[in-house]
Amino acid sequence: MPRKIFVTTALPYANGKFHIGHIMEYIQADIWVRFQRMQGHMVHFVGADDAHGAPIMIAAEKAGKTPQQFVGEIAAGRKQYLDGFHICFDNWHSTDSPENTELAQSIYRKLRAAGLIATRTIEQFYDPVKGMFLPDRYIKGECPVCHAKDQYGDACEVCSSVYTPTELIEPYSTLTGARPELRHCEHFFFKLSDPAVVDFLKGWTQDGKLQSEMAKKASEWFDAGMADWDISREAPYFGIEIPEAPGKYFYVWLDAPVGYLASLKNHFDKGQAAGHWHAPSRTALSFEQFLADPQVEQVHFIGKDIVYFHTLFWPAMLHFSGRKTPAQVNVHGFITVSGEKMSKSRGTGIDPLKYLAIGMNPEWLRYYIAAKLNARVEDVDFNPEDFVARVNADLVGKYINIASRAAGFIAKRFGGQLGAPGADGAALLAALHSGAETLHALYDGRDYARALREIMALADKVNEYVDQNKPWELAKQAAATAAGADVNADAQAPAVQRLHAVCSTCIEAFRLLTLYLKPVLPTLAQQVEAFLGCGELTWADANKQLGPGHTIHAYSHLMQRVDPKLLDQLFEPPAEAAERVQTPQAPEAPQALEAPATQPPGGEALAPVITIDDFSKIDLRIAKIIACERVEGSKKLLRLTLDAGEGKPRNVFSGIASAYTPEQLTGKLTVMVANLAPRKMKFGLSEGMVLAASHADEKACPGIYVLEPWPGATPGLRVR
Ligand code: MSP
Ligand code: ZN
Repeated sequence: MPRKIFVTTALPYANGKFHIGHIMEYIQADIWVRFQRMQGHMVHFVGADDAHGAPIMIAAEKAGKTPQQFVGEIAAGRKQYLDGFHICFDNWHSTDSPENTELAQSIYRKLRAAGLIATRTIEQFYDPVKGMFLPDRYIKGECPVCHAKDQYGDACEVCSSVYTPTELIEPYSTLTGARPELRHCEHFFFKLSDPAVVDFLKGWTQDGKLQSEMAKKASEWFDAGMADWDISREAPYFGIEIPEAPGKYFYVWLDAPVGYLASLKNHFDKGQAAGHWHAPSRTALSFEQFLADPQVEQVHFIGKDIVYFHTLFWPAMLHFSGRKTPAQVNVHGFITVSGEKMSKSRGTGIDPLKYLAIGMNPEWLRYYIAAKLNARVEDVDFNPEDFVARVNADLVGKYINIASRAAGFIAKRFGGQLGAPGADGAALLAALHSGAETLHALYDGRDYARALREIMALADKVNEYVDQNKPWELAKQAAATAAGADVNADAQAPAVQRLHAVCSTCIEAFRLLTLYLKPVLPTLAQQVEAFLGCGELTWADANKQLGPGHTIHAYSHLMQRVDPKLLDQLFEPPAEAAERVQTPQAPEAPQALEAPATQPPGGEALAPVITIDDFSKIDLRIAKIIACERVEGSKKLLRLTLDAGEGKPRNVFSGIASAYTPEQLTGKLTVMVANLAPRKMKFGLSEGMVLAASHADEKACPGIYVLEPWPGATPGLRVR
């Protein structure tokens, strides 16, 4: 029976770019999702931005934007990270959405109907300088539990206790530094201390579905006693209004996890959801029908800092509003870099986009992170030397090399056709086939580190087999006997046959190893599938073989080794950061205000990395604008007649009329995309494109600048 699984990762705050910690979480979940899909299970994998809350509201205000604008810009930058690291979300949504409003309000109404919402007048901190009630994050002070200094008002980062800001010792406003005043205010509470809720949670957290460390942590929390949870905030607040309570909003952590459901609903409503439903159950289910299905497993991947919310608040909210609770809450540790904890606002020394931009292979990182992740809540360290060693010695040295050692012989000697493996080859392959069951359990149980160790142990076996059989010597023997006239012609037959058997075994072994690595290395696996001509590998293919007579395609190198210099480049501080070290440090600003300080260049983040081959597909030529005229009926377009040294001019329409008059351009040199497919426009055929620079937000930052080469360039020269 195929499983039906609904998978999420924590919803990132929409006040900053992704850091390597986010990417690690996405890689962990993505591997699991891809693995389940390889089993033929049905998986919906969704994410969203966590858009609400005071920090985002305040950061937007500082940036002179509406909160919606502010989070919209952050959201627009997400795709390049996700695509860049091959994270296969089915949908990405936002908690600031109609779906989330409706779901959060409906869950709240159910909780209220169940008698689990209470109102209470509390004393809350108010910043007399700023003139507003202070959000928890803007009050700091000493943790009332462990007495760590400078802890935020909602939770302690040292001991993970969750409390209310008024419990802080020596509080201060991080907005103004003022000592906050207590003022009265009516708040709404979710009655977590209600015996029914406590009973439910005690059962839910201790029935074996949580990691043992987390179950233990939960029981400590019960021992400390459950307090009711303050779920309301006063206007001004960027959030969802509490029904029948004007001027009051849900605290961001109430609507944030509901965002999981909102993204799933949005996914279903877009009608894309059918994609991962395998026939015969491909029915047009509604989101609510899907979620109500008791067989559907709801699986969350989160970091260790947000366990309280996901193992207490969230299951209680779901259960007491009549919904299904999560089947798994999989908690991971934090990633450190060379043993150093990363700063929440500045991230680590690893900028994921820089990683991609300098040409580092995303699958190296996927492999490395997978090699370090297990099912326990342990921190993972990124160590540059270790990274180079694992990728080069294991991934490339042990695995990729198998294909590169065997493929050439199969192509050259046997016309690309595989032969039969022979007895020892068959025994080796049997050992590889039998690994499938263990690996299944390890992937399913998120012990990727052990899975990869097992796979590398299998690769070791294959390499031993290669070393024993020395295909390069078999090839020499075969060639020598074929050339020597004095030798019995039959003598070459065994060497050739042996060579064929050994290399065919290697290729089959490589197919199996690729299958086992596919959840971790999805694009590499795709390349291998094309090379082997074996179709899309699923887990069931572990019991099959390509078999004699199957033809493989020409081998082209699948993966480079890491050049250690790349890691130096990755960790090289940006010029700006180096400067900052010399200037005295400003007092620490709240996290939310720092993160969006770096705007992407030109208003848009860099496009995904391409290779030089991709670039060379674009043929750019110097062209002379020999004539230029306005286009009747169009305010935007100019018609250019370009000489690109081809002996006959080209006609090109360009949307630059707002920036240039025909007179300014006539006679100038510029750069043209010369191999763009001609495009029929309303005004005639456009046979190319002229290059010009502009800001992503044309309205806010108008200006179009046509490119002009340095003096000396002549029409027809290629720009490269
Ligand atoms: N918005 C909340 C989550 C709401 S879920 C309904 C949040 N956002 S976050 O952007 O701060 O963190 C998102 C995820 O990244 C969390 O699971 C968090 O644990 C994880 N990580 C943040 N820093 C991390 C590391 N250094 N290493 C690994 N994961 C880390 O919390
Ligand atoms: Zn503490």
